[in-house]
Amino acid sequence: MSLILSIESSCDETAAAVVDSGSKVLASVVASQIAKHAVHGGVVPELAAREHLKAVIPVTESALREAGVTLKDISAVAVTQGPGLIPALLVGMNFAKGIAQANKLPLIGVNHFLAHIYGAFLDSDLSVLQQPETYPLLALVVSGGHTSLLLIDSDGSARQLGCTIDDAAGEALDKGAKLLDLGYPGGPIMQNTAENGDPERFDFPRPLTGGAGRALAPENLYNFSFSGIKTALLYHVRKAEESGERNDAQWLSDTAASFQRAVVDVLVKKTLTVLKNYPVKTVVVAGGVACNAELRRMMAERLPRRVTLRTAPPKYCTDNAAMVGGIAWHHYRKQDFSPLDIDSFARLPQIVKVPFI
Ligand code: KG4
Ligand code: ZN
Repeated sequence: MSLILSIESSCDETAAAVVDSGSKVLASVVASQIAKHAVHGGVVPELAAREHLKAVIPVTESALREAGVTLKDISAVAVTQGPGLIPALLVGMNFAKGIAQANKLPLIGVNHFLAHIYGAFLDSDLSVLQQPETYPLLALVVSGGHTSLLLIDSDGSARQLGCTIDDAAGEALDKGAKLLDLGYPGGPIMQNTAENGDPERFDFPRPLTGGAGRALAPENLYNFSFSGIKTALLYHVRKAEESGERNDAQWLSDTAASFQRAVVDVLVKKTLTVLKNYPVKTVVVAGGVACNAELRRMMAERLPRRVTLRTAPPKYCTDNAAMVGGIAWHHYRKQDFSPLDIDSFARLPQIVKVPFI
């Protein structure tokens, strides 16, 4: 048994967890700042940092209490190193360093992007990670900050096939919801508003999927673009304002459903394009947007039977510290510790290897 205490503060959630041996989540506590940022229509980095400062100690104490352990039982301290908002990341990083030094525990800096992928393996039998039949594994990471396809082989080598060239999928849903005056964060509200809507009533574009009679540039085969869908929504809203339809509840549901369908359709189409060209055995859909019921349904429906689809339960899709503590155990078992002077980073570095194989 090796218990890892993990801290996550990359964006607008302050989170702490205690995870046993990379799998069993003993406690996962998340304090959301959503209400604080909602009035600004998006995350304000300095405000996020100040909120992390207030929450990080009580959240960590709650996680230890919930797990029924003390710092004496902990084997290592893990923390999100990046990517994320630097002012926000620094709070968790400094806090984790303090705990590690004061308690003579090893420190493990974790890549938040890879931790999202690992969320799909929490609370499950980890032997699947060691089985060659699991690979190649294709991870679609879709969150407020990322839309990326990562191909992982059985030796742990990895390569990013594509990513968004403008907005992330979650960002598109958040901005779309803002245009529709639905509130923040947009993804879950868009899903709710779409529930009784007709996803086929309005035709939003599916950028970089080779539709609309335009040839797709080879370098964009696995890339995404969501800014065009957002602009199409802006014109759609303006038109409805002119015609007086804007206040019609059915128009709103149909718009949300059609917009969500366009975003989901692009994500599924791109995943299927990879499957055509690589002998993928497992598809992992990870990140906050992986909570989306329509995305889960369409993926399950349209992936070929030879492929195993893995998604985490929603609580491990959105930002949390359990995924950080889970992946950190693989660094721990390889004695791959971070020095106490590690720095946080804002952008996703090139990924050539994953630590969990
Ligand atoms: O992974 P996450 O919590 O934070 C980042 O690392 O970015 O993802 C947050 C994103 C937001 O854009 C939010 O709107 C989206 O995930 N999201 C959803 C749903 N729940 C959260 N998008 C669509 N449907 C949902 N149910
Ligand atoms: Zn995240």
